Amino acid sequence: MQFAGSHILSVSQFEREDVERIFSVADRMMPYGQRKRVTEVLNGAILGAMFFEPSTRTRVSFGSAFNLLGGEVRETTGFENSAIAKGESLYDTARVLSGYSDVIAMRHPEVGSVNEFAAASRVPVINGGDGSNEHPSQALLDLYTIRSELAASGRSIDQLRIAMVGDLRHGRTVHSLCMLLCCFKGVQVVLVSPEALRMPPEIVESLRNTGHKVVESEILEESIAHVDIVYSTRLQEERFSSLEEADLYRGRFRLNQSIYTHHCEPNTVIMHPLPRDSRAHARELDDDLNDNPNLAIFRQTDNGLLVRMALFALILDVVDQVDKHARDVNWYTGGRF
Ligand code: NCD
Repeated sequence: MQFAGSHILSVSQFEREDVERIFSVADRMMPYGQRKRVTEVLNGAILGAMFFEPSTRTRVSFGSAFNLLGGEVRETTGFENSAIAKGESLYDTARVLSGYSDVIAMRHPEVGSVNEFAAASRVPVINGGDGSNEHPSQALLDLYTIRSELAASGRSIDQLRIAMVGDLRHGRTVHSLCMLLCCFKGVQVVLVSPEALRMPPEIVESLRNTGHKVVESEILEESIAHVDIVYSTRLQEERFSSLEEADLYRGRFRLNQSIYTHHCEPNTVIMHPLPRDSRAHARELDDDLNDNPNLAIFRQTDNGLLVRMALFALILDVVDQVDKHARDVNWYTGGRF
């Protein structure tokens, strides 16, 4: 695809070569993500960050990624602080805000809302999550993490074996990740969820049509026994009609160190898009996994910076200028990486 000036709304926009291009640009962002160097390549550019649903890492990492490329961030969070609360349409908001920004990252609770906004925007829009539909930048950072975790043992995304666990019906990260896996070959996917929270059938069908093997299960222990990656997810309680209904499924699949030791192959990588729900009645990933070296959740969040920097550099067409506008950093950066 042509990245310059494009919206990023769905992973279905990407061919395999596009995913590989994003990953190779993300690799080049490493010295900046690790604060060894800073670049001013986007000096003067403005990111409009509009998050109408709760967000910590997606919002802050989009902002930090833009800052690390030398740009500035203007943001609005929550409907209550926005003119949408006064009845303004997405069309009008998009026309206005795209006059103030060079690129926009947006999250919204309604499926399709970011597409509607993008259709009216005068600048590229990145979907930071539209309801239970898609979360393309998360899927890219997840797959980038899978690629780097597997590279350590000489494996690649082709022939990957992955178990996705939890609320697969409402989880937009797993929807986008499955669709992104359709760019690769010979993948085995085990989908572990309660019957009522299964992966949407059209996504399962896309995986099968690609030639991937898909198994659906309600039993965690046997499903995580022969996989490279266990990708756990949070119950998306905000998508249920009531908390009582969400409670029916809460805490159903919990991974802790003891289950991991007894059922997983050595070095199975544990992932989660975060936030994990650490309340006692949930705990889909127990805190006792925190010292497990295969817990990759914070490597995922670090990688999110690199992948989002890569998206901005590609969309604003500055990939080859990043290093020309760079210098070494001169402040303390120790200990983090
Ligand atoms: C996810 C999301 O918002 O879809 N979080 C994220 O962006 N990393 C997952 C979740 O909220 O459970």
